[in-house]
Amino acid sequence: MCQSIIRKNVRDKLHIQRSQICSSVYRSVEGRLDHTDLSSFPPERIRNFSVIAHVDHGKSTLADRILEYTGAISKDSTNKQVLDKLQVERERGITVKAQTASVIYEYENEKYLLNLIDTPGHVDFNYEVSRSLAACQGAVLLVDANQGIQAQTVANFYLAFANNLAIIPVLNKIDLKTADPEAVKEQMMNLFEIDPDEVLQVSAKLGTGVIEVLGAVVQRVPSPTDSCRPDAPLRVLLFDSWFDRYKGVVCLILVVDGSLKTGDFITSSHSSKTYEVKDLGILTPQETPVPKLHTGQVGYFTANIRDTKDALIGDTFHLKGAKVEPLPGFKQAKPMVFAGVYPMDQGEHSALRAAIERLCLNDGSVSVSIESSSALGQGWRLGFLGLLHMDVFNQRLEQEHGAQVVITTPSVPYLVKVKGTQAIQQYRGEEVLINNPVLWPNPSHIVDTSEPFVMGTIITPDTYLGAVIGLCQERRGVQQNIRNLDNVRIIMTYKLPLNEIVIDFFDTLKSLTSGYATFDYEDLGYESSLLVKLDILLNGRAVPELSTIVHSSQARKIGKRMCEKLENTLPRHLFQAFIQAAVGGNILARSTIRAVRKDVVAKCYGGDITRKMKLLKRQAEGKKKMKMYGNIEVPREAFINILKR
Ligand code: GTP
Repeated sequence: MCQSIIRKNVRDKLHIQRSQICSSVYRSVEGRLDHTDLSSFPPERIRNFSVIAHVDHGKSTLADRILEYTGAISKDSTNKQVLDKLQVERERGITVKAQTASVIYEYENEKYLLNLIDTPGHVDFNYEVSRSLAACQGAVLLVDANQGIQAQTVANFYLAFANNLAIIPVLNKIDLKTADPEAVKEQMMNLFEIDPDEVLQVSAKLGTGVIEVLGAVVQRVPSPTDSCRPDAPLRVLLFDSWFDRYKGVVCLILVVDGSLKTGDFITSSHSSKTYEVKDLGILTPQETPVPKLHTGQVGYFTANIRDTKDALIGDTFHLKGAKVEPLPGFKQAKPMVFAGVYPMDQGEHSALRAAIERLCLNDGSVSVSIESSSALGQGWRLGFLGLLHMDVFNQRLEQEHGAQVVITTPSVPYLVKVKGTQAIQQYRGEEVLINNPVLWPNPSHIVDTSEPFVMGTIITPDTYLGAVIGLCQERRGVQQNIRNLDNVRIIMTYKLPLNEIVIDFFDTLKSLTSGYATFDYEDLGYESSLLVKLDILLNGRAVPELSTIVHSSQARKIGKRMCEKLENTLPRHLFQAFIQAAVGGNILARSTIRAVRKDVVAKCYGGDITRKMKLLKRQAEGKKKMKMYGNIEVPREAFINILKR
């Protein structure tokens, strides 16, 4: 949709909402949602909403305050990011997995069932946001009043808007001395055409203004009456799942039509498999069993599903035998970054397999295939949504399962068109997706190569503009748009190859701009690009684990860098060894590892010179032979050092 139309729609939508909020008396109810009859909450009394924001703008803190005000958790100064349950989330202070909590809020003497979804802020977990929004009718768009609009704010705004959600703009951290609410309101006006009068101001930390947010949720977020029908045959949308050791897969659902009770037999539209509903409940935020979930309500069910693959995110469940149209669902998560994962010690292989399987049960967005390497042994090639996702997965392997792993340099999936019957048969088609350089087709069989591109949004203070543009150009970026966000900050969009940003783009951007610039990207699909396989040869022999796919314009630079890195990492041998980077038969870079000099004449104290000459001559002959036949021995540790990021 063109931006001006979106803007107009935003303006209209917010205009309608503006008159709705009034200075009512807000009251929160004390007491948890522990009664089990949810029939007193028809769709008109339900509000399903998400909290969306850039990283660290305070989503989880606002969620804490909402849980406290509604009595879902007791007020306690130790309540900090209550919905961030994973150890990695608490340690890093980031949300990785969207979390749901159902609370009751009393507003103008009416009780409402509010389903709140706290979402992650980092771009890698955008998929969590998009699927959470599918279960909502509204979103609280939180913006840090100190930092202002950031790249992820822009992405989240458009995501919520594309989902046709009511947007409640909220400024957070107004307690900070450096907060500048008026300037940020102006940015919101400039970028999203949000009327400054619509914007609420809160301090999630202190709890100021949180009651007004709850009131606005009741007032401005539409009830699910339009999209959900109580009298229609049952349809539930599955939008999240996780694995419980005792109950099997727990499915988080929105009841779109009809109602669901324990003992119902339900069928998956995707797999046509039928299950009996064993357990039904809502998250308060703990799992709280209820006998029945009604239209428009968000809750969970278990049904002895043992494999998360049978709980496909976006799937529709209906009553057994009923004929219903499946809900539109949503796009599946697409892994964008692939890396080999190997146990540090091959003896730990089966323990690592069990750990990966367990983690994947709770994170369906990770793709797994078996891989082996002569240097690293048996392992897996895992696909992740981004580099942070990969880091978090690695940390969870270590913390939750005590696994020590080697992760190889990440790469992105490439699309290759091949020709020739043999190649087509081998790759089972003319187009093949390659996520492991080892599987790169022979150049004589390649017709065309494509790589994934993204549209990156960067917001930076104008003092760093030159440095940011330089970085984007160096990474093969093409500028699409540039404009002022306010009088000190610039927003720009760049089309960039994903390959160029997966590894260190974000870190470099942060260091170039003293941490001020923010970056977000969205997938643009594949585009034709001249890609080549860069091989690394040690004494003339290619080492498959070190091959990478690169753009032809970068091959020489990357090859040189790899050679230098290897030169500094590989142990010296008794003979001279050489390292080469090559594309096809073309050597692009070369380094030499000098031989270790053994003092063969050390034991000759004095004596005849001819004896020394004889020993040195013999040593020289031996070295020549070793150089000719000698194959460089790369110790496992050196491999690990080279391949580790
Ligand atoms: P991600 O989940 O990583 O995207 O972060 P988030 O948006 O959930 O932010 P979070 O709630 O974790 O808060 C980030 C930091 O901001 C924490 O250190 C909070 O204590 C702090 N913070 C949140 N709200 C406020 C506020 O109103 N005032 C002040 N001063 N600090 C706040």
